[in-house]
Amino acid sequence: MGYPLPQEARLTGPFQPMRFEATVDECIVTHGEIPKDLAGGFYRTGPTWKRPTRQGTNGLLGMDGMVQGLVLENGRADFRNRWVRTPKYQLEEQHGRGMFEWTDGDWHDWRTYGYGDVKRDQYTCGVPQGTNNVNIFPFAGEMVASGEQGGPPIALDPITLETKGIVNWSPKLSPGIHAPTAFGDNSFTAHPKWDHETGVLYGWAYRDTAPYVTVHVVHPDGAVESRELWDAPYNTVAHDIWLTPEWMVMPFQPMLIDKKRITERELSVFGWDPELPIVIALIPRHDPAAPVRYITTDIEPQYIMHTLSANVSGNILTLDGPIFNRPPFPFEQDFAAGDDVALFFSIAKSALGRWTIDLNTGQAKSEQLSDRPSELPKVDERFYGKGYRWGYQVGGVVKKGGMKMNSLVVTDMQTLSDQEFQIRSDEPAAVLEGTFAPRHKDSPEGDGYIIVPVSWWAEKRGEFQIFDTHDITQGPICKIELPFMMGWTPHGHWMDFR
Ligand SMILES: [Fe+2]
Repeated sequence: MGYPLPQEARLTGPFQPMRFEATVDECIVTHGEIPKDLAGGFYRTGPTWKRPTRQGTNGLLGMDGMVQGLVLENGRADFRNRWVRTPKYQLEEQHGRGMFEWTDGDWHDWRTYGYGDVKRDQYTCGVPQGTNNVNIFPFAGEMVASGEQGGPPIALDPITLETKGIVNWSPKLSPGIHAPTAFGDNSFTAHPKWDHETGVLYGWAYRDTAPYVTVHVVHPDGAVESRELWDAPYNTVAHDIWLTPEWMVMPFQPMLIDKKRITERELSVFGWDPELPIVIALIPRHDPAAPVRYITTDIEPQYIMHTLSANVSGNILTLDGPIFNRPPFPFEQDFAAGDDVALFFSIAKSALGRWTIDLNTGQAKSEQLSDRPSELPKVDERFYGKGYRWGYQVGGVVKKGGMKMNSLVVTDMQTLSDQEFQIRSDEPAAVLEGTFAPRHKDSPEGDGYIIVPVSWWAEKRGEFQIFDTHDITQGPICKIELPFMMGWTPHGHWMDFR
């Protein structure tokens, strides 16, 4: 059966869905050369519209995940993209139609994220609703796609992008906001951190009932150590953390998540209550029995969605990241029923900032470190949990109440000096989150390359631009072309093959 593409904000411009699976061997290089010493894959996942659901267009978080992978070796690039074959995807493929209906999916407006409960029937009973479309990260030799809520992580083959299945450690995880619908139907953050030396993964799940957060430390052999945060201050969207040598640092910020907002109040699953304080939880990494320290701050209402890294010097803990004036999600105070969806950076703006915590006194302060709008922060991930110097972000300019992203920004977090290269000016394009790849396996922190995906969506063309961290201001050393529009993806990571 054929159908038109719904003309909705979440499916237009850069959000037009890439509805085919492609394999491009030996991609065309339109500028420069791919560094021969780079060997690895750059993977991203994103929500991709497949077909109408039973209730129209599903929310972004309820759209099927599609993974894109660019594998580099010996100066050659091969591109593939594949649907993540989740239990939901497979059920709908089997029937050739949308089978799922969400409690937050029938308003056709800004409230339809797709994080509501699924209305279960004889077909969807026992099938996790997860779409694994927020992030994909390397773990134990596989790439693992996560949607943060709705279902367990799913492993994919790093070369073929074939879905291998739900990770075998999923039964040891814990539920997110949804009741499990089958054995092992749990949830896992989209932004875990890891220790490069040990391969240990630091993740968690969050929900709208106590305990609001369960921390999961996952070992490469699949063993999982868990800790429930029964004393967490409130239910927060625990989207990202910082890792230090001693702690997982989890910010409790008053962006709330609660399914009752949908079912009892007909609101979005997400809420914003700036009356609540920002609380920093220091969760010991190495001793599951050691107490969690909660530091209640008097930092004014603001929001860090994604983190750079943290440094500890004596009794001073610095937590870096782009700081938003408010979360970039629409809440009831922004929209009326029937309004179309507002997408991310159109209603809020962020710029590089730092929270500084005095570990002796518990005093906290917030500083803005730049005036330039920026988000999608990344670091040299080999140094997660070890302190850091180099931060990478997508930069932009203020646009109405939000921001328009157009550049790559590299910041020396010690001196706060930065380099910027403007990737686009006024032509339609989406400059997506970049990722760092080291020059050699053992290069010092920040010595290597940054790969930035750029969707020239109006020209139906995709591109990966590779920058050398020695000097990004001269522009990319290499451009790899995709002869079609690459679908929109929020996040991704590098897996090193060396
Ligand atoms: Fe994210």
